[in-house]
Amino acid sequence: MSDTVIRLDHISHAYDQQLVLDDVHLEIKRGMFMGLVGPNGGGKTTLINIILGLLKPDQGSINILDEPIEQFHDWNRIGFVSQKANTFNKGFPATVFEVVSMGLTAKIGYLKFMNKHHKSKVLEAIDSVGMSDYAYRNIGQLSGGQQQRIFIARALVSEPSLLILDEPTVGIDYRNVERFYELLHELNTKQQLTLLLVTHDTGVMTQYATNVVCLNKHLHFHGNSKEYSDLSAEALSEIYGHPVQVIVHDH
Ligand SMILES: Nc1ncnc2c1ncn2[C@@H]1O[C@H](COP(=O)(O)OP(=O)(O)O)[C@@H](O)[C@H]1O
Ligand SMILES: [Mg+2]
Repeated sequence: MSDTVIRLDHISHAYDQQLVLDDVHLEIKRGMFMGLVGPNGGGKTTLINIILGLLKPDQGSINILDEPIEQFHDWNRIGFVSQKANTFNKGFPATVFEVVSMGLTAKIGYLKFMNKHHKSKVLEAIDSVGMSDYAYRNIGQLSGGQQQRIFIARALVSEPSLLILDEPTVGIDYRNVERFYELLHELNTKQQLTLLLVTHDTGVMTQYATNVVCLNKHLHFHGNSKEYSDLSAEALSEIYGHPVQVIVHDH
């Protein structure tokens, strides 16, 4: 098996007549923490939907774990966390443990067949996002940031090769955002989890991401985080179409 997790070649896509992605190439290698940035409407979510097999692009090819997407079936290997924080209301009748268990259902069919091994996998995933103390709380009683951690745990329980997050910190207050990024950093460095993170927070890019791509219909930049932080303000403004201030965090 090669060390390429995702490979996109010549991806183009239009909605109606509007071209949204134009000849995009992208390669995500094992162990990368890739940040995907770009202006609103730049095509980030469209690209994620294409990688997840939810949208078929007009042109181009997609390889996932060395297989053409048309032949790829092992979707357990690709975890996804969306931007919808606070999905569960206060009264939602499920515990954290039950929500994380849902991440296993594709593997084991029905929850009633959960054995000891499955249960310890669920608890391990909850522990890996630092939420052990909340395992038997009701999910609706957690804050938005805590719920997002639980969604990560749900994605991790099937031991994915890649975790994709599309603006996961929208609606999370800023102190928890920092902790959330630290968790991603830990998963990347300690558990060698490969990550693709869509975010508006350019600070994350210089502090935690190993690689950065800027997307605005075209892939405008593709490099490591050092090269990204060296980009001039003018170069970034050209990509975004308006002035951008990059906040550089120290390593
Ligand atoms: N289902 C859709 N139908 C038509 N247009 C869409 C659809 N989804 C997205 N778009 C348009 O495609 C462009 C890219 O959107 P999107 O991929 O969501 O960008 P981003 O995630 O970078 O903000 C936007 O102009 C958006 O309005
Ligand atoms: Mg989006």
